[in-house]
Amino acid sequence: MTTSRISGFYNMTLEERRAKLADASPLTPPELAAWTSGGLSAEAADHMIENVVGLHSLPLGIALNFMVNGRDVLVPMAIEEPSVVAGASFMAKLARAGGGFTATTTEPHMIGQMQVINVVNLYEAKLKLYEHKAELLAEADSIDPVLKKFGGGARDLEVRVIEDSPIGGFLVVHLIYDVRDAMGANAVNTACERLAPKVEAITGGKVHLRILSNLADRRLARARCTIPVKELAFETTTQDGILRYSGEEVRDGIIAAYAFAAADPYRAATHNKGIMNGVDAVVIATGNDWRAIEAGAHAYAARSGRYTSLSTWGKDADGNLVGTLEMPMAVGIVGGATKVHPAAQAAVKLMGVKTASELAEIIVSVGLAQNLAALRALATEGIQRGHMSLHARQVAIAAGASGELIEKVASQMVAEKVVRIDRAEEILKELQA
Ligand code: MEV
Repeated sequence: MTTSRISGFYNMTLEERRAKLADASPLTPPELAAWTSGGLSAEAADHMIENVVGLHSLPLGIALNFMVNGRDVLVPMAIEEPSVVAGASFMAKLARAGGGFTATTTEPHMIGQMQVINVVNLYEAKLKLYEHKAELLAEADSIDPVLKKFGGGARDLEVRVIEDSPIGGFLVVHLIYDVRDAMGANAVNTACERLAPKVEAITGGKVHLRILSNLADRRLARARCTIPVKELAFETTTQDGILRYSGEEVRDGIIAAYAFAAADPYRAATHNKGIMNGVDAVVIATGNDWRAIEAGAHAYAARSGRYTSLSTWGKDADGNLVGTLEMPMAVGIVGGATKVHPAAQAAVKLMGVKTASELAEIIVSVGLAQNLAALRALATEGIQRGHMSLHARQVAIAAGASGELIEKVASQMVAEKVVRIDRAEEILKELQA
């Protein structure tokens, strides 16, 4: 991959974009075909879940301009919402002017939980477990030889006392497991199930639940970017003439928008939803478990006891806009749908990632870019303008427009500021008359 910048991509036809992607990416024609055919066969799907009757598709777009840790990357995004791919690409372009995204991850440590009930003395049992820690870790470590071969395995054991709950007190044992390039649910759940009899013998209690925690706060991904303040200046044409925004105005507007999310959970939920627009789209494109990522993100956002923003926005000493994002990122590139879904394999190959950590670093960068796109729009001209033109296209299609008529019907609705199916039908009739 030499560059993630492809000029004019947005205005190309579907076929032209496919041809450009074939030139710009390391994917072979059969690999690229995974996105034209939908990738997954019904037969393969039949082995993935129960009661299969078919497949369900989503649009797959490519976000441009991303530079993560100095490397250009074309980012596949599977999402039904207009403006998301364009927003990410545009913000990646602004971030590029400040050196792109710098991203890191912690070690890929997942937490497996064991709930130990019917324990006579919780504090005594807790210490007994610590006394047997080495032995418990050795047992957990031997469970997955493949993971061990790749450097993974059991890392730590922690015991928490829950003093009071609807069933009284109990113990929670956390098994910290390095899952390397896997999402890790299977490895961690298996390890917890295997350790349970030993934990029961040590504590005299009963191990009830044995399952990983989606609050993967030992497996974090972090990204930051600096947007040169001059890059934020822009002008836009409205009904009332040309509106001009200085870079400082936009920067301060974004910081004030962030402050709203930092202070108010009602706004933070929407702010974080904007981040997840970017995160989930890549998580889905790579065949990862987006429910796990969602659960982890929102639990992490509430870790202080008050739900707040996952990102921060402020300025540096030179007055440039600085954004940061930190969140759990339990994604894998081996096993599960990432391995059996041809479109997910194509997505991983397109990004050139060799480890789950590299994938996590790209995903968190896309989340930050997406957050910036939303805040920039909200802090200036409002979100509807950008949204409306693509939404109008969808309404035009729903009204029966095809080919060139889609754009014609959509533009007229946007110009009239009436984006409704009944109006689309009328315009379509007029154009076809
Ligand atoms: C819409 O999908 C996402 C936004 O609501 C995010 C935000 O408000 O920050 C635009």
